[in-house]
Amino acid sequence: MLGKLNLDAIPYHDPIIMSALVGSLLLGVAIVAAITYYKKWGYIWTEWITSVDHKKIGVMYIILALVMLVRGFADALMMRAQQAIAANDSAGYLPPEHYDQIFTAHGVIMIFFVATPLIVGLMNIVVPLQIGARDVAFPFVNSLSFWLSAVGAVLVMLSMFVGDFAATGWVAYPPLSGIEYSPTVGVDYYIWSLQVSGIGTTLTGLNFIVTILK
Ligand code: HEM
Repeated sequence: MLGKLNLDAIPYHDPIIMSALVGSLLLGVAIVAAITYYKKWGYIWTEWITSVDHKKIGVMYIILALVMLVRGFADALMMRAQQAIAANDSAGYLPPEHYDQIFTAHGVIMIFFVATPLIVGLMNIVVPLQIGARDVAFPFVNSLSFWLSAVGAVLVMLSMFVGDFAATGWVAYPPLSGIEYSPTVGVDYYIWSLQVSGIGTTLTGLNFIVTILK
């Protein structure tokens, strides 16, 4: 089921990625512990995760965009640091294949997982109120769309620690993105994350057309 992914796909030898993995795991454990300590699982599940309220979905889109903005900004800092260090004929601190993945992930994240959810989130909050509707036309589809976007974002994040991400630039033109020049799982992550989140944003587009027209 996992295709080309096995335990060798985790880059144990790379200190940058391993520190990011340990940091992310610690942050994840701290968040889960805090939610458990304050007994907020029920509240988060009923009031947010399963909510079909357009305002709450809008807020969740904006939170997703802000989380991904932090990741995209970290990528930007790493790129600028590499460019500064490598300016004087030094190789810098990032190997070329790692720089290319960061470059691609930055573009993909900023466009599809920051700008898009930010706009969709604001639309979710504002448009139904603006036109005097009680909610969007298909509230459940709205929730489904958000979670499809979130799954796409999770896939991009996962590619940091298992396998690699595309090294093609955010537009992933062939032949660079073809199997000959991109033989690893990177382009697979790219395709799946964009397809899954793309189904979500397409459904949102239809939802808003029907909401506004009807
Ligand atoms: C926070 C400040 C930001 C910094 C310091 C930054 C930095 C960079 C750098 C260094 C590159 C590579 C440029 C190159 O070497 O040719 C890049 C590419 C790019 N950035 Fe940013 N960026 C920032 C914010 C953003 C935002 C907010 C967006 C979009 C919403 C964005 C979208 C892109 C795209 C689409 C690319 C091209 C990626 C590709 O061709 O694959 N960036 N950025």
